[in-house]
Amino acid sequence: MKNTFRNLICLLALIMAFSCSNSSDDSPTSGPTELPDAIRASFEHAISPSDPFVLLLTNTTSYYLPYTGMWDYGNGTTAIADGTSVKEVRYDAAGRYTISLTVSSDGITNTMSKDIIVDENGICPNAVCGDLNTSSLKDAATTFSVGTITRSPYVNAGGKHTEILVSEFNNLTSEYEMKMNVMYPSEGNYDFSAGDAIVDFAQANGMNVHGHALIWHNATPSWVENFSGTDAEFETMVEDYITTTLEHYKGKVRSWDVVNEAFEDGSGHPLRNSVFRQKMGDDYIKKCFQFARNADPDVLLFYNDYNMASSPTKREAMFNLVDSLGDLVDGVGAQMHISYNGPSAANIQAVADGTVSRNLKLHFAELDIRANPEEDTSVSSLSTDRANAQKEKYKEVVQIYNAIPLDNKFALTVWGVRDNESWLLDFWGVPDWPLMFDEDYNKKPAYAGFLEGLQ
Ligand code: XIL
Repeated sequence: MKNTFRNLICLLALIMAFSCSNSSDDSPTSGPTELPDAIRASFEHAISPSDPFVLLLTNTTSYYLPYTGMWDYGNGTTAIADGTSVKEVRYDAAGRYTISLTVSSDGITNTMSKDIIVDENGICPNAVCGDLNTSSLKDAATTFSVGTITRSPYVNAGGKHTEILVSEFNNLTSEYEMKMNVMYPSEGNYDFSAGDAIVDFAQANGMNVHGHALIWHNATPSWVENFSGTDAEFETMVEDYITTTLEHYKGKVRSWDVVNEAFEDGSGHPLRNSVFRQKMGDDYIKKCFQFARNADPDVLLFYNDYNMASSPTKREAMFNLVDSLGDLVDGVGAQMHISYNGPSAANIQAVADGTVSRNLKLHFAELDIRANPEEDTSVSSLSTDRANAQKEKYKEVVQIYNAIPLDNKFALTVWGVRDNESWLLDFWGVPDWPLMFDEDYNKKPAYAGFLEGLQ
């Protein structure tokens, strides 16, 4: 027995020794814990300021080991200057060229490619050919306003952003400074300073202002979330907030989103259980619209929500709500946070049809079109194919909007000017290029799509 026990201990010790030595082979206790990223090709391209047929290519690959790089200029005329960092390539013949850079290091090879298009005037910026400077969006859209968003520091800063706001758009929305958490930060203290800067700028430049948004569960100040008074006091506070805000902006703001995103996405789309619903009841939305109507009978009142095209059931819930509001609501704001590959034209059309059949105004609001809905974290630039697919979706949205009857038209608003300013980058946390201008304020194919949708 004693021997058997001793043998068992020995066996256990042996197993442990074996497994310890095994595990120490697999997981070294010192040295790098993460393998370095594999080499990834990267380059930038620009049109030469002195010759529209010449492309300037810069290799921006960074890697910690020596590597070799090989360019393929896509049958463009060979490099006319082969500097260490910038290559100059001339493309004399019109056509489409794929340029690629292939890098290799440590047995790993990676390629990045971009397409360029050349026409009789030279290389087309952003692969958009034709003169996009003959008309602006607001001038081309003769029957409805073209809107965008801004922030108070932008309108005061001047420069290219301000210039584009004025030259392209005639309807302005504050991205976040006309929401309750900013306008009413603590009980009894209103702060309209940021909103005023935007509204003053719009007025000075002949733009309409769309007020967004009086009640939104995502922009409720914490003192309201934690309101300590009675339900009746809460309702009086909300009435005071809506009245004070509408009176402050009377004559300066053409329209307001009174309630934003009241529905859940889940089955049956119940009303979100926001603090407003908890304290004012299921008809809190109607009450808010009534407060707004009383405060300014001339301002247009909208209910605004997302996924109205992609979710037929949510669309139905929203239309049931606006039906119950009767004359208190003037229009429907359909947020158009969509993707290059969906929702379908038929579903977008259904939003328009439902609104038109109710004799309401339609706001295609918050338009941005994701080019990377697959959330591929490895893409580093907008490919020509994706840019063109995105262009087609911009065109489709504008065509649908432009075709509704004049009486139902109001505005089509894009949610941002430049790709790199889009809220979607933070929201999804992946690279994307959802807007009509690139980081350098160049017009993208999407811009051309918008104009084509008006034809
Ligand atoms: C977003 C803004 O773009 C962000 O800057 C802000 O931090 C959060 O709100 N639906 C809406 C908009 O109705 O108000 C949201 O805007 C985007 C989603």
